[in-house]
Amino acid sequence: MHPLLTTDPDEAVRVLQAGGLVALPTETVYGLAACAHSAAAVGRIYQVKGRPLDHPVIVHLADADQIDQWARDVPRWVLPLIDRCWPGPLTLVMARADQVGDYLTGGQETVGLRVPGHQGTRTILRRLDAAVAAPSANRYGHVSPTAAQHVIDELGDFLDPARDRVFDGGVCDVGVESTIIDVTGDQPRLLRPGAVATTTIEGLTGRPVVAARENHVRAPGMLAAHYAPRARVVLASPQEVSQVVEQVLHEYPDGLIGAVALSAVTWPPDERLRVIGSYPTDIEFAHELYGALRAADEQQMTAIVFVPPPDEGVGLAVRDRLQRAATGRSDPTS
Ligand code: TXA
Ligand code: MG
Repeated sequence: MHPLLTTDPDEAVRVLQAGGLVALPTETVYGLAACAHSAAAVGRIYQVKGRPLDHPVIVHLADADQIDQWARDVPRWVLPLIDRCWPGPLTLVMARADQVGDYLTGGQETVGLRVPGHQGTRTILRRLDAAVAAPSANRYGHVSPTAAQHVIDELGDFLDPARDRVFDGGVCDVGVESTIIDVTGDQPRLLRPGAVATTTIEGLTGRPVVAARENHVRAPGMLAAHYAPRARVVLASPQEVSQVVEQVLHEYPDGLIGAVALSAVTWPPDERLRVIGSYPTDIEFAHELYGALRAADEQQMTAIVFVPPPDEGVGLAVRDRLQRAATGRSDPTS
């Protein structure tokens, strides 16, 4: 077993109490956690990720009743979201309480909060009796990890076995990061789509979800080039599949090309085209998405052609991540 790995929740608690970092599974993706009260420990998250200091981190709570320690002026219309969606894949950006330091918010007056749904991680949070700050456990700009081994692959060289751990709690259920809603105005503002659908938020709040304004907040997940593998990501509509595949095969005459889509999509036969993902539903598409991106890099594929699912439910999140992955290849050395 890798020296960073553990399945013991008490060991994870001890490491967090001692100011170390623990990569924790959530129902969305693995997060790189530090005790939220320790500026020094949270500071190390930024070093390990290679992330700019002015980007805020999400504070993860064991239970919704801790919200008043972290947020103030929680609007009444937000309460049904808290009641019905937590624990779950929803982050709420709220006005921060006085104790919330700049080291958590990147200097902003708001704080991102969520109660994660993974049982092992909730056990750790309860025993720790404190919140943890946790961005996704990947190097900055890269693909989020959905399994403990992905965290080792991403951060193994940057974490310290003498003081950090990766808690192995299996493969993440959802597979893409939480829905982020800014609730500081009168309407829910969508900062990042995820598994909690906008229709669900509208149903629970009775208010229409509005789109994020550009540059309104600093959210790295909103940068155009993000969630990027080394392989080039090319998007195709179901009607364009043959044409796009032909173009990509032509553009890379020696490369291996991956193909990922819902199972309803048929691919043209070619020995250089490998179907690495074929999913019955958008839920499975989301669950497997980041694993497929990693598999393409492991198999040294030159490009991956994706047919994104329809933009309903979690399909919207999958499309969002694919668009960002298609916008820029991340620097493999970063
Ligand atoms: O599913 C998730 O949300 C995962 C798991 C680990 O909880 N976390 C995650 O964290 O994706 P991260 O840091 O990779 O992405 C969180 C996003 C970032 O884009 C960050 O800028 C934004 O949330 N965010 C956090 N606090 C914010 C705030 N106060 N205002 C605006 N955006 C905020
Ligand atoms: Mg992230």
